Formats: sequence, C-alpha cells, structure tokens
Amino acid sequence: MENNGSVQRESWGSKIGFIFAAAGSAIGLGNIWRFPYLAGENGGAAFIFVYLLAVLFIGLSVMLAEFAIGRAGGLDAIGSFKKLAPGTPWWITGALGVFSAFVILSFYGVVGGWTIAYTFKSVSTPLTNLTMESFVNFITNPLQPILWQVVFMALTIIIVILGIQGGIEKWSKVLMPVIFIILLLLIIRGVTLPGSSAGLKFLLNPDFSKINGSVILSALGQAFFSLSLGMGTMITYGSYLSKKENLPSSALTVASLDTLIAILAGFAIFPALFAVGMDPAGGAGLVFATLPSVFDKMPLGALFAAIFFILLCFAALTSSISILECVVAYLKDQLGWSRKNAAIVVGTLITLIGVACSLSNGLWSDFTIVFPGKGALNLMDFLGALTDFLLSVGGLLICLFVAYVWKFNKANAEVTNNGQFTGVWVPIWNFIVKIVAPIVIGFVILNGLGIIG
Ligand code: PHE
Repeated sequence: MENNGSVQRESWGSKIGFIFAAAGSAIGLGNIWRFPYLAGENGGAAFIFVYLLAVLFIGLSVMLAEFAIGRAGGLDAIGSFKKLAPGTPWWITGALGVFSAFVILSFYGVVGGWTIAYTFKSVSTPLTNLTMESFVNFITNPLQPILWQVVFMALTIIIVILGIQGGIEKWSKVLMPVIFIILLLLIIRGVTLPGSSAGLKFLLNPDFSKINGSVILSALGQAFFSLSLGMGTMITYGSYLSKKENLPSSALTVASLDTLIAILAGFAIFPALFAVGMDPAGGAGLVFATLPSVFDKMPLGALFAAIFFILLCFAALTSSISILECVVAYLKDQLGWSRKNAAIVVGTLITLIGVACSLSNGLWSDFTIVFPGKGALNLMDFLGALTDFLLSVGGLLICLFVAYVWKFNKANAEVTNNGQFTGVWVPIWNFIVKIVAPIVIGFVILNGLGIIG
C-alpha cells in the first residue's frame, strides 16, 4: 500500500509486522555494540542487573506511554501532542524529538558505515591485522569512513522512501529473525571455546559492590537509548497501529525482544573474549578492534566475522530507518511533503552533519565542544552525550504529559482499549508514570549535567 498523497494514512500490514518494526527500531547498535561495552566497563553482571531493573521499571512504562500517545493522536510525534493537547506548548516535546533524530542519526550513520566497512575488511584483510591500531587508523582517515557512511545513509533513505509496508515492515520481518539466528551461532561458537567459562561468570555472577551512582545512571541512559524511547520513535510507530491492538502486550514483547538481543550479544561476545584472554573493558572499540582477534582464534573465523558485521549492519539499519521516519512523518503529516522528498532532503542534511562527525575523529579532532558534566568533547562524542540528555528530557516530558496534561482517565482508556485489557498493571503503570519515572529520570538529567552528584 503506497499511498503518498492519498487521504488514507499508512498503517501496519499486520500485528506481527508492527512488532518486528518496533523491535527492529529498538534493536540496533545500542544492543550489540554499546550494551556489551558498557557492561564490560561497568562490572558485567552487576551492570546487567541494574539495566534489567531500568528496563522493567522505567523503560517499559515510557514505551507504553509513547504507544498510547501515538495511537490516540494518530499522527507524527509533534502532531500527536497537538491533537491531544490543542493550544498548549506540549508539541515542543515532539519537536525536541524531531531535533533529537537529527542529533542521533548523524553519528549513528557514521557507526553504521563502520559496520559495512568491517564486513568487507573481515574477508579482505587477515583478521590479525584488524587491531585497535588499524581501527583508529580507519576512523581517523578523512575519506574512507565517510564513503561507508554515505552508503549506509543511502540505504536508510531508500528503505524509508519505500514506505511503511513496502519498506520498514518488509525489511524488519526478514532482518530480525536473521539477527537472532546469527547471534545463536556466535554464542555456540563462543561458549565451546576452552576458557570461555570465565566470560559466563562475568555475565552471570554479579559483584554488587560494583554498583554505584554512575553505574545506575549509565544503565538507565542505555535503557532509553536501546528501547528507542524519549524521541517520539515509538509515538510515530504507534500512530500506524490499529485501535484493536493490545498496547501493553506489544510494549512487553518489544521490550523483551530488545533485552533478549542485548543479553544474547553479551553471551556472544564475553565468553569468546575471555577465552582469548582479552580485556572486557576495551571501550567503544570492543566490537571493532577486539572481536576480529577473537574470531581469528576460531576455525572459519573470517566467515564468522563477516557474518557478525553484516548482522550489526542489519540491526543498525532497522534502527536508522526508524530515526529518519520520525522526521519524515512530521514533514509528511504537518507540512504535506511527499515521503520521497522528505526522506531525500532530511537524509542528505543528516548525512552532511554526519560527515562533520566522522571528520571530528581525525582531521577536525582539535575542534572540541564542552558538555556540562563531561568536559571538552569532539563533535561525535558531544552529539552522543547530547543524545543521552535529549532522550532523558523527552522521556521525562512524556511521563509528565500523560500524568498531568492528558490525564489518566483518557490515557488508561487508550492503553486498555476502553477497559478491554485491564488488570493490576494499570494502577502500577500510573504510579510509575506519575511519580517514579519523573523522579528517577529527573535525577539522571541533573546528575548528567553535573548539577547534583
Ligand atoms: N534503539 C536503537 C539502538 O539500540 C537506537 C535508537 C535510539 C533508535 C532512539 C531510535 C530512537 O541502536
């Protein structure tokens, strides 16, 4: 159903299509690249434990709130707020989300490009040569990473032009099961290597003394990023959903799939990493610089490495299309642009900001911007820090909007389909959205800015 310009709004072809697309948005570089390296830096199992609590007690509730706003509003992130609270400035929450989309996708596209580059590198270069040094050489090169970033962004733009059912839904349906299967293969590979049990212990045996304020904060920030919350992505995706669909069960399924893939990624990486005696706190270079040497110690290593980086690229694409879709839906719904023009214009603009991000790793690394609480950062790291801040503010505003502006009599009618699916979770959800989430997220924001310790 390609209906550019026609009256009827696009919708999901099936319930499972929506689940795949929303899970596709959630599952991305956040799960497979960022989650393992944050877990590695923050003590493994203890971090994972706090992360799970953050998903369960905050993330899940914010996701349900976003689905409800989107389906009730039936429009893009900005339009839905305008529809539910006409004449108020709450649409700014959606505008903030559209702005966040520019911020996130500009650096996301750069890392997405790295995943394509590494797919080719793992078959064209001996794995022993894919070291931290060669990773740094690659990302600081003025031209190479930009070429791959442009390829990644072009793919993103093309899929978004194909539209909801033709593009996003179809691709997600194919790509998500592939990702799951490849991760399982990698886990079997990893846990059968001698010495891998130390990695299992690292993942399963929490050392609670490792939990401190900063671990809690990075776990919560990662939960937002990984579940695609606080930006209006899930509002936009919810707006394509039919009135019959069960929102709480959809939110539970999407959050569970996202968490499952992050945990599987941990199990794919750490046992193998320990088996070859490497440092789990290897940082942002973990996947790109460390894993090739892990794969090198395996039979058919180059093949497994290529499969892994294709997987990472697929996961990144199903997320990047959801970020671009957020802006495209706004231009389409609010300003009457065609899907194609919106995707091309916005995609090109974001690619150009991304070029500056890529250059900030090398040629332009002397140019730094101070982020409150973090100090001087290059453009790429600055946009990363800004992302955590913007998503947290977005999530906070979404909770406050539901609790105090839209109000629970209407919000509860939406999430329960007018009382059709109800239960003890309704008052719990209300309590979290009204009290728990605003306080916890508020603390994250103030702490992130260095205002409170
Ligand atoms: N959740 C995606 C990931 O884990 C990133 C993302 C953030 C997508 C915000 C949409 C909105 O990679």
